[in-house]
Amino acid sequence: MGADGMFITFEGPDGCGKTTQARLLVRFLKERGASVVHTFEPGATGLGRELRRLLLEPGRHLSPVAELLLLAADRAQHVDEVIRPALKQGAVVVCERYVDSSIAYQGGGLGLAEEDIRRVNDVATGGLSPDLTILLDLDPAGSFRKGAVQDRIEGRGLEFQRRVWEAYRRLALDEPARFVSVKVEGRGVDAVQADIRRIVMDRLAKRGMVL
Ligand code: TYD
Repeated sequence: MGADGMFITFEGPDGCGKTTQARLLVRFLKERGASVVHTFEPGATGLGRELRRLLLEPGRHLSPVAELLLLAADRAQHVDEVIRPALKQGAVVVCERYVDSSIAYQGGGLGLAEEDIRRVNDVATGGLSPDLTILLDLDPAGSFRKGAVQDRIEGRGLEFQRRVWEAYRRLALDEPARFVSVKVEGRGVDAVQADIRRIVMDRLAKRGMVL
């Protein structure tokens, strides 16, 4: 539970439009007078910016466990510096990627054991779990930015992205109360955003946070 505020995460494969959708949601909530913090992983803190560079620079070799631990270090700092303080003040925190990304990418994609990923992340987050996770549902074949400049993790190819996507689907099935999947394929930005707003307003109302 996200303490006093509400903790919302966006998840999905590379190129699914998370940033655009998160921005539009944040603008909408702010216009309605909510106190909102928009943030992301990896790289939202001073330490995180340096870790992000180490993680995503093409050409660097990182062992899968080293990658997991750098992401967890980024997350620990982010929770401590940004997410928990904002929730404590009653804000809605909208975060692009969180623990589910590590389970999907480092677990599904790289093959690390989910149990290990959860253990490390429990330490990193102190057990802080999102209240709502919006999974942008886009088959990797449709989202994979072949022509685009890719970072080290994106550049792992379509098979990797498929395993990531399968892990996300399983996570959503395992925790239906937390996850809401929103179809992106073949739909415009506005239609996707309308679904997201409906879902978020409904959850806020259920928590007694009427905007
Ligand atoms: P992000 O900045 O969200 O990239 P994009 O806009 O392409 O989705 O994330 C950068 C990369 O880091 C992305 O390929 C996903 C990866 N990542 C992990 O592999 N594990 C994690 O725990 C996180 C937070 C990100």
